[in-house]
Amino acid sequence: MKVAFYSAQPYDKSSFDEMNTEKAYHFLFFDIDLNDQTVRLAESCDAVCIFVNDHATASVLEKLAALNIKIVVLRCAGFNQVDLVAAERLGIRVYRVPAYSPEAVAEHAVAMILTLNRKTHKAYNRVREGNFSLNRLMGFNLYGKNVGVIGLGKIGLAFAKIMYGFGCELLGYDPVPSSLPAYVTKVDFEQLLSESDIISLHCPLLPSTKHMINGESLALMKQGAMLINTSRGALVQTTDIISALKTGKVGQLGIDVYEQEEKLFFKDLSEHIIDDDDILRLMGFPNVLITSHQGFFTTEALAEIASITLQNLQDAKNGIKTENALS
Ligand code: NAI
Repeated sequence: MKVAFYSAQPYDKSSFDEMNTEKAYHFLFFDIDLNDQTVRLAESCDAVCIFVNDHATASVLEKLAALNIKIVVLRCAGFNQVDLVAAERLGIRVYRVPAYSPEAVAEHAVAMILTLNRKTHKAYNRVREGNFSLNRLMGFNLYGKNVGVIGLGKIGLAFAKIMYGFGCELLGYDPVPSSLPAYVTKVDFEQLLSESDIISLHCPLLPSTKHMINGESLALMKQGAMLINTSRGALVQTTDIISALKTGKVGQLGIDVYEQEEKLFFKDLSEHIIDDDDILRLMGFPNVLITSHQGFFTTEALAEIASITLQNLQDAKNGIKTENALS
């Protein structure tokens, strides 16, 4: 089976080649993303494999269908970048990896909290330069703090479990009812915003969740609260969060995802002029920590992603509609 693999990074090639032991798949690895211009690279392939910033829009899917490609496999959980209505109409089967390692993302969210709070990134650099002063490195105890978890799915609950271990009080918001551990108190969105010292976003990007953190919701938050987003950039209205950082409403911000990340993340732009004033503004704040969508990036998660994706390719080829199928 011939698969066009978009947005391929060296670590993707390694993990997929390692899993492809019987050489049942012939991967064509492209480091560029899938879009209207690059779709033709998939000519003669049976399937395409895409990641978070590859856009399977209606027009891209129509071009794939014209190439007689009827299988799209996502090597990620989120699927906001795929037009599923168009896929259904064109008879294209779309599969994703709904869960590979919720702990990988949850642990990254916790890493961001600890770094922002105890400023270990600053301490590391200071000590290397012979600066052993503690001034401006003061943090706060996590013990006893209210932590709000928005989205109580696999990652949200893995995150809540870790924070419970720190002795935090867990508040959770999710519109869908589900059974929760006793240490998570379910509250409404407004209560979560107004009572949390730290808020972590773990819900998918949907029309209903786009910009859920905006001027209005930020106004309800505690003065100086910490906000962590390891979910999807567009959950947060970027200019509103910049304003909230300027006034001190948001005391610390950790983002592993960014609304306009497509043009930036996963690329080495260190020798380029960055043409995005919002990210430059965010990078300029001393209390903002940005990582470039690395929440998923552990050995365990990559192996799991490769294994499930190969199984998805097989199931799609055989027309087996599993729970990983989106269309
Ligand atoms: P999940 O499907 O297990 O959980 C998502 C939860 O969000 C569900 O319980 C759902 O009911 C809830 N939800 C839906 N609408 C909501 C709303 N308006 N407010 C609050 N909650 C709402 O998904 P999982 O595996 O926990 O992943 C969550 C998100 O994490 C993904 O959608 C993806 O965007 C992101 N992600 C980020 C990664 C990274 O590397 N930074 C890697 C993997 C996922």
